[in-house]
Amino acid sequence: MRVAIIGSGPAGFYAAEALLKRADALVEVDMFDRLPTPYGLVRGGVAPDHQKIKTVARVFAGTAARPTFRFLGNVQLGRDITVADLRRHYHQIVYATGNEADRRLGIPGEGIARCTPATVFVGWYNGHPDYRKAQIDLSVPRVAVVGNGNVAVDAARILLRTPAELERTDIAAHALEVLRNSQVREVFILGRRGPEQAAFSPAELKELGAMAAADPVVAAEELAQCAASTGDAETDRNLKILRAFAARAPRAGTKKLHLRFLVSPTEILADAKGGVAGLRLEQNRLEARPDGTLAARGTGETELLEVGMVLPAIGYAAERIAGVPYDEKARIIANQDGRVVDPVSRAVIANEYVVGWARSGPQGLIGEHKRASADVVGHMIADGAGLAPRALPGRDAIVSLLRERGVQPVSFSDWKRLDDAEVARGARRGAPRDKIVDVEAMLAVLGQR
Ligand SMILES: Cc1cc2nc3c(=O)[nH]c(=O)nc-3n(C[C@H](O)[C@H](O)[C@H](O)COP(=O)(O)OP(=O)(O)OC[C@H]3O[C@@H](n4cnc5c(N)ncnc54)[C@H](O)[C@@H]3O)c2cc1C
Ligand SMILES: NC(=O)c1ccc[n+]([C@@H]2O[C@H](COP(=O)([O-])OP(=O)(O)OC[C@H]3O[C@@H](n4cnc5c(N)ncnc54)[C@H](OP(=O)(O)O)[C@@H]3O)[C@@H](O)[C@H]2O)c1
Repeated sequence: MRVAIIGSGPAGFYAAEALLKRADALVEVDMFDRLPTPYGLVRGGVAPDHQKIKTVARVFAGTAARPTFRFLGNVQLGRDITVADLRRHYHQIVYATGNEADRRLGIPGEGIARCTPATVFVGWYNGHPDYRKAQIDLSVPRVAVVGNGNVAVDAARILLRTPAELERTDIAAHALEVLRNSQVREVFILGRRGPEQAAFSPAELKELGAMAAADPVVAAEELAQCAASTGDAETDRNLKILRAFAARAPRAGTKKLHLRFLVSPTEILADAKGGVAGLRLEQNRLEARPDGTLAARGTGETELLEVGMVLPAIGYAAERIAGVPYDEKARIIANQDGRVVDPVSRAVIANEYVVGWARSGPQGLIGEHKRASADVVGHMIADGAGLAPRALPGRDAIVSLLRERGVQPVSFSDWKRLDDAEVARGARRGAPRDKIVDVEAMLAVLGQR
């Protein structure tokens, strides 16, 4: 069986491994990625000061070393190849394209200068080629980060780390330069619900209390309504950490990270030059939904928070890809249990599957994709066993097709050369790597330009 996997993030690699290690099926995998570099958000999302998490890439490199695996980087589905091409050249297709679009607050002022979605800010500091030219202006003293998830925590931490803390990481050189000159002194993380509903992981929250020159600030009254024990271990750990933050006095002269709860932005205000000047916030209360969960409801009481930059970190969504069924409501690839379906009739589209965030939306850690992708591979093998054998064009025909179209696929050994070049560049600043952030420059290193 020959399988195309589109996307080389964790979900795609775990699906490849599950396919390639099966003893009951001989599978050839071609993994495509729109970037010349593999690993998806492990490279472009995970924070630069979290190097240990990125070592999972070694596991993926082990999969890539399998003899029937092939990486075709720098090939975008919907631009360089079509779903029809894939159907012709492969028995089965797996979409592992993640969630690369951002969600919007939907309030007046969104989109003005210095209102920067987390997708852009994170992509910029991580050297994602799409965002290398993002205008990130850190000449302002106060920044609001909207959202109570781990991405909000990442963004706030990167804004508050010292250059010394960042230069030994693989942060993009352009971002390090701007952060060196940053005027940001105070960051506000704003949750629309309460501390008990926050989505932070305890480890991420705790790390906010261990920055070299910045301290968390939590007002005791923010925690006054919280239960002593919620019955949920993670929430209890978060509350314990927040209480410890509230009890400690921030060091004099440090930058401050304020954690505020039960507030929603209702309007982003602009200065005379059209950049962010403030954020109108509405106080919320919690209201039970019919399913028992708690929703934030505005009380009508408002305040103005003077900030010069707003970073909404309120979640991601799947991009639409031409020819791939899209669920408009959930903003994922339309599927039933990982089998792609028509979004209207819900009829299964044979031989097409989806894994990872493109399947389930933007929740979950890297390791969680291992089991989830393997489950979908289980469907693929079961469905494949019932199919009549179908002769395909030769394995290299897809490469010839791409070359005819002027596309230059990047192989895994090409990536290893880029990897070596980045690691060598990084050694000059004592960092694990210094990323090449421009696709043309990557191709130049490979001698393809
Ligand atoms: C900012 C951030 C930080 C995170 N930090 C952590 C962390 O510290 N620890 C942790 O466990 N989890 C973390 N996560 C979660 C983790 O990154 C995700 O669970 C995981 O990466 C999702 O895997 P995926 O394979 O579905 O998508 P992705 O990792 O996004 O991979 C999708 C891949 O598809 C490619 N692609 C997209 N469209 C196309 C196309 N049309 N054609 C070809 N290729 C395409 C992309 O280039 C990309 O390589 C973080 C997430 C974010 C957003
Ligand atoms: N270090 C790590 O391990 C790490 C780092 C980064 C990301 N990740 C993972 O990646 C996934 C995505 O993280 P994420 O932070 O993007 O998403 P997330 O965990 O879903 O958090 C999104 C936050 O945005 C809030 N929000 C949504 N819409 C909003 C609105 N209109 N106004 C105000 N707030 C709004 C949500 O509040 P409600 O709860 O009220 O909806 C929630 O607090 C998570 O699984 C996360 O754990 C992990």
